[in-house]
Amino acid sequence: MSYYVTTPIYYVNAEPHLGHAYSTIAADILARHMRQRGEDVFFLTGTDEHGEPVELPAEREGIPPQELADRNAPRFQEMGERIGASNDFFIRTSDPRHAAKVAEVMQRVYDNGHVYEGIYEGWYCPRCADFKTERELGPGNTCPIHEIPLEREREENWFFRLSAFEDDLKRLYAERPGFVVPHYRRNEALSFIEQGLDDVSLSRPRLKWGMVLPWDQSQRMYVWFDALLNYYTALSFAREGEDLTKRYWPANRHVLGKDILKFHAVIWPALLLAAGIEPPRGMVIHGFLLMGEKKMSKSLGNVLDPFEAIERFGSDALRFYCFREVSFGQDGAISAAGFEARYETELANDWGNLVSRTLAMVERYRDGVVPEADADPALEAGEDGLAGIDERVSELLDRIELTQALEEIWARVRRLNRYVEETRPWDLARAGDDERLDQVLYGLAEGIRVLALALHAYMPATTDRLLEALGEPERGLAAFGSRPGGASIERIPPLFPKLEAVA
Ligand code: MSP
Repeated sequence: MSYYVTTPIYYVNAEPHLGHAYSTIAADILARHMRQRGEDVFFLTGTDEHGEPVELPAEREGIPPQELADRNAPRFQEMGERIGASNDFFIRTSDPRHAAKVAEVMQRVYDNGHVYEGIYEGWYCPRCADFKTERELGPGNTCPIHEIPLEREREENWFFRLSAFEDDLKRLYAERPGFVVPHYRRNEALSFIEQGLDDVSLSRPRLKWGMVLPWDQSQRMYVWFDALLNYYTALSFAREGEDLTKRYWPANRHVLGKDILKFHAVIWPALLLAAGIEPPRGMVIHGFLLMGEKKMSKSLGNVLDPFEAIERFGSDALRFYCFREVSFGQDGAISAAGFEARYETELANDWGNLVSRTLAMVERYRDGVVPEADADPALEAGEDGLAGIDERVSELLDRIELTQALEEIWARVRRLNRYVEETRPWDLARAGDDERLDQVLYGLAEGIRVLALALHAYMPATTDRLLEALGEPERGLAAFGSRPGGASIERIPPLFPKLEAVA
């Protein structure tokens, strides 16, 4: 089955920060997990290069917006590579192939009678590229996200008839209970729809940096319309000489932060319906990474640089930390000190030591060959038993419980550590209890193999190293079934070296 997952496309006004990396890692975990399940996955990410969020900072620097985009887009591409994103394509909305497809879709919306000309008046935040309702305004008519004073704008616009889609949207939400997850974000989006929808402005005459409307050359398109359509347009040109739309559309999951919920959960499906295109199957909404009490953001100046964090801890540790520390879906504070603590206790000690000890004991007591033995029922059974861990993780990831699935895996890491302490293989070796030692070493080697497979979507680089050392070429779910002993293993340097050694 096909599985299409996307990240938001990032504004190229500045360099990427960890908040951006967070959306990409979440989508990457889903993409990698679905590949492990043998699905035909397409994973898209990219950059949002039009509109005032890019035009204004470029103006301040005195350079053309395309130049700013050309400078920053490669940084986002590089961020993806550095954090191990396995995206199949990277779209840039300044790509003329995207523009051509957007024009085609928007013309259909126009031909279907869903746009009209009118006057717009409201509070506009150029950083969000969004009009705020009176209810959303911060104190003193400020943007609640960027904390800047907003301008009252009045101008002639083309409008998209969003209000006409109220019933269609309600039906969509009723038919697909999992359309937006977590459920509290679904309720938020639905209550927004139920309060009654206003039409939205589709174009702006003052905008200089954006796509011209196909039916009115004097106006440029409001950036969100061109941006949302990236999810659809990319499929038509991501692969040279092939249109992937039939194969992957509608998308299974759009991953995004809660700040852009309304655009995705309300405007986006309505726009697709207006163009006669099937709406996406679902979307996944995450919360904010906070530094102190505030959302990490460039304009608030409290960002954690993902490149620096990777330099110090490695990309897998960063991926792990984000999803372990902050319960997926909720907001959560992160900090350099918290990261260090989790790195030491959970990655270097719990997991790293378990792996090193197991490999060392197989080498020392069994010449590096995993002994042939039957599985120890003591490791398989119970709440935190190894049996069925693959199904448990799949089931949780189907419900987009990224933090809970990781916790399930971690419960088994802790269990294996307890097992080492309880069975004391070094005593068994001293006492010459070969049969029991075989069983224990087999259980530990199997345990770390299965957990490495389960952790693979979260920490692809280090689990690849470990699985190679264990002589396991497979990454798919099929490999979860127990493997007989006999494999030769290799000792490898610590997966997560102590920080003193890193610094
Ligand atoms: N360009 C739009 C999205 C268009 S999608 C058709 C945009 N870009 S953004 O660069 O501002 O943000 C992109 C993503 O990064 C959003 O999902 C946003 O929630 C996420 N994050 C930015 N800062 C964040 C945190 N501090 N924490 C978690 N994610 C946040 O919006």
